Amino acid sequence: MADATNTNDDVWKSDRMVANWVAGTGARERHRSRHRRLMADLLPFDRDEPFTFVDLGAGTGAATRAVLDAFPRASAILAEYSAQMAAEGGRALSSYEGRYRYVDFDLAQGDWPADLPTGAPAMISSLCVHHLPDERKRALFAEIWDHLAPGGWYFNYDPVAAGDPVVEAAWLRAGDRQDPDAEASRRNRSPDEQQRHENHVRYIIPLAPQLAFLEEAGFEAIDVYWKQLDHVIYGGRRPSGRASG
Ligand SMILES: C[S@@+](CC[C@H](N)C(=O)[O-])C[C@H]1O[C@@H](n2cnc3c(N)ncnc32)[C@H](O)[C@@H]1O
Repeated sequence: MADATNTNDDVWKSDRMVANWVAGTGARERHRSRHRRLMADLLPFDRDEPFTFVDLGAGTGAATRAVLDAFPRASAILAEYSAQMAAEGGRALSSYEGRYRYVDFDLAQGDWPADLPTGAPAMISSLCVHHLPDERKRALFAEIWDHLAPGGWYFNYDPVAAGDPVVEAAWLRAGDRQDPDAEASRRNRSPDEQQRHENHVRYIIPLAPQLAFLEEAGFEAIDVYWKQLDHVIYGGRRPSGRASG
């Protein structure tokens, strides 16, 4: 049943909301760029190896660009359901012409479009899986496993919930000390900012069940490859079918 309080589609398919989101990109991306680079560095390819990866909920392609920069012969398929985000992505990716294409895909549904390949050597997602209800997260990880090649990797960069008020308070305390504007922005949100915040936190859950969903889907080499306060990079590999390696 549809969740009437879920404003996800309203946010990501609104010209105004997407324009606001894009306007804030520069400030947000400054501290994210090294996390995105780490996710690229976790991929098991030689620097000059050609391969095509899938970025799920790709937005304007920030995670995609980190991989394309790290692997100059790689190509990307960006799965995204917001025409507004894809249009902004076309501008942000103009210098990567010929190395990417967008595919229309609503991750909240399980119908993978035919133009998303099976047998992908790698899939990534960033700052998107937390927009999905838990049952979709669980099903999506199984669908990703099905669409990966044996030995293919999946990494997700996302926020997680603390699941413990004392831990959450510690995360907030450290976050506020590291960013002197954080507390004031939290207390003085505009209506748009409040709507985006509510959309952002609605389905954020702790880390443990997400790792369990990966395990249940059949991934191996599952790890939290990076974590700082409420942000993580976790992932795993579809078994290659060979003994190890
Ligand atoms: C916070 S942005 C992150 C974009 C990009 N991955 C990045 O790291 O900058 C969230 C993205 O998820 C997309 N998204 C949200 N729900 C989605 C869904 N059900 N299907 C496909 N994309 C979705 C939004 O349109 C938006 O582009």
